[in-house]
Amino acid sequence: MKKTYTITAALPYTNGPIHIGHLAGVYIPADIFSRFMRLTGNDVAYICGSDEHGVPITIKAKKEGLTPKDIVDRYHSNIKKSFEDFGISFDNYSRTSSELHHKTASDFFLHLHDNNFFKEITTEQFYDINANQFLPDRFIVGTCPKCNYEKSYGDQCEKCGTSHNAIDLIDPKSSITGNLPSLKETKHWYLKLDEFQSFLEDWILKKHKSDWKANVFGQCKSWLDDGLKPRAVTRDLDWGVSVPLNDSDGKVLYVWFDAPIGYISSTKEWATNNNLDWEKYWKNTDTELIHFIGKDNIVFHCIIFPAMLKAHGEYILPKNVPANEFLNLEGAKISTSNNWAVWLPDYLKEFPNKQDALRYVLTVNAPENKDNDFTWKDFQARNNNELVAIYGNFINRVVVLTNKYYDGVVPEPTELNKEDLHVLQKVNASVQLINKHVEKFKFRESCNEYINIARHGNKYLADQEPWKIFKTDPKKVNNIIFVSLQVSSILAIIGEPFLPFASNKLKRILNHNDHNVKWKWGNLLAGDLLIKPGIRINQAELLFTKVEDSEIEFQLEKLRKNKN
Ligand code: MF3
Ligand code: ZN
Repeated sequence: MKKTYTITAALPYTNGPIHIGHLAGVYIPADIFSRFMRLTGNDVAYICGSDEHGVPITIKAKKEGLTPKDIVDRYHSNIKKSFEDFGISFDNYSRTSSELHHKTASDFFLHLHDNNFFKEITTEQFYDINANQFLPDRFIVGTCPKCNYEKSYGDQCEKCGTSHNAIDLIDPKSSITGNLPSLKETKHWYLKLDEFQSFLEDWILKKHKSDWKANVFGQCKSWLDDGLKPRAVTRDLDWGVSVPLNDSDGKVLYVWFDAPIGYISSTKEWATNNNLDWEKYWKNTDTELIHFIGKDNIVFHCIIFPAMLKAHGEYILPKNVPANEFLNLEGAKISTSNNWAVWLPDYLKEFPNKQDALRYVLTVNAPENKDNDFTWKDFQARNNNELVAIYGNFINRVVVLTNKYYDGVVPEPTELNKEDLHVLQKVNASVQLINKHVEKFKFRESCNEYINIARHGNKYLADQEPWKIFKTDPKKVNNIIFVSLQVSSILAIIGEPFLPFASNKLKRILNHNDHNVKWKWGNLLAGDLLIKPGIRINQAELLFTKVEDSEIEFQLEKLRKNKN
């Protein structure tokens, strides 16, 4: 049945380029899911945009002697372009500095304010007298009270993941001047999260125990078990969405209040540009809202944002929040500050036309249930031994043989024998499994199952050896090539979510578009042909090429230089 999906991918902070950790954790799984749902006939809005507020951007601007606007302009275009070049199929990529977003976030805040969901609380907060400003969140660095990590931020410890109040840090220092901060009174608006405790318990602990991932459910449970408290949703900063009230000079919305509303404003922007009704994607109870995020974003998407949506009253809540764990690189934590990362713009330059190879490796090795490691050797091995040697090899043989024996025209089959039916059966089973895994957000398994289709085809061809019997048993060869072309067509069609570049190339080779070959949930065995006899296909082209040892050595050398 056709459904409507609103699929969001965490808005990346606009203070640096995208790296493989972001891709594996959020953007590739969300892209596979979105492409798959479109492919199978659903109405999809795949939504993202740049998260352009928040302290890290302000700090980076200060360091470089630029304005926050300069920083976000630079990285917004950088990020947007690399997503496009990498084939991430967002329906809309917006930015939170846009006027539409400021208005949407500000109206949202006002609505909650008018309905009495905030408490005004005055507390003492850290203040840097030399810099003449308050020090919210990352403007403070100190020792984590929980794990003793010495470089914990005011709002969250990157080592152990706990979020805390800056006041609780041991040895707090201003990250602007390094000075010991003083304390100064200031008033802020606190969302009365405690009022949502029982609603959230009911919704998450009762209703989503079995369909949310264990890591997501577990984090939510521990937050709820601790008991929710009112949480400040404003800050003393000059970069962000201004608090839309009278007595609020120098105050902006907390970035984690405005950013998730960015999903809504990005949807509005897209709907306006395409003459669609944005409300269908956010207010229609049949719509499935799915948030793709990394594990450090769980509380915001499972507790705080849902509480905001619920408080507002008209919005649907997420159906699922398939958060991933983290990806490491060559055995060490990815780190922007130590330049321990594989940056997407570099990858695209250094491996032109190899988007699918990275998509593939990051999918089959995704940190779905535990942190995982990316190594260049594994990247090379999977590309060469799986994409090139199995998938690429199968397609190449089928296409070359079709051209050689039949002048490129799909042969007419006669009665299929046991082996022919067997391979079609296996492919059918794989297709069903892929569907099942994708619906459960198991992208590693679905992608492995996808390559199994190529494996089945490859093995079938190798076992049948049509090149040995072309003269003696031409009828049998007709069937072998016919069946192999059906398998190739399935690979082209159902591969689009996983390996969109190879899939498009293969569709061109097989002339799918000219003959309107489309996906249907049919059964190949029941005669639901994908590519009909008589269709002429094109010449062979390589779908994948090898990664050479020297290319891997180059990447490892680049990392070694950053090691110390
Ligand atoms: N910018 C955040 C991060 O990279 C994610 C924001 S997601 C949103 O961790 F929901 F707030 F948009
Ligand atoms: Zn800690």
